[in-house]
Amino acid sequence: MEKIQITYQTASKEELTKEEQSLIDKAIAALDGAHAPYSNFHVGSAVLLEDGSIVTGNNQENAAYPSGLCAERVALFAAKSQTKQPVRLIAIVARNQKGNAADAFSCGNCRQVMMEYANEQETRIRIIMGDHNGNYVVLDDVRNLLPFSFYSRSLN
Ligand code: THU
Repeated sequence: MEKIQITYQTASKEELTKEEQSLIDKAIAALDGAHAPYSNFHVGSAVLLEDGSIVTGNNQENAAYPSGLCAERVALFAAKSQTKQPVRLIAIVARNQKGNAADAFSCGNCRQVMMEYANEQETRIRIIMGDHNGNYVVLDDVRNLLPFSFYSRSLN
């Protein structure tokens, strides 16, 4: 038998670094731009790039449901469409229909996208996801969220 283990940290905001806290603040601010009239579940994301620049995103829904996009992909695609800078850190936060903190645990499609960008750069992408207690789940490498993943080498 083989075993895969992942290591993560659960921390309050105060336990995180100033840089991490500031990225979380940017993700929280990005909640305002969410277009989520169908789920009323608002998600905000902020992506910190190697040069220190930050790109934010939020979930964008559509009456034709599959046409919408998650917050972290909106942020990542925006960032990657503008620069080749490696990604250092991604923060994601969510608010439920009542406006309370909710689990912002990335969906499988977003994990797939984050994994590919991580594979293409030399450094790891760290991820911070808000939870329903107002704490943050932190992983040093987004790829740990998607074991046995399909990736570009599989195509060759
Ligand atoms: N959503 C995100 O933005 N990120 C995630 O990782 C999970 C889900 C959005 C998609 C949709 O607009 C709403 O949350 C409810 O699924």
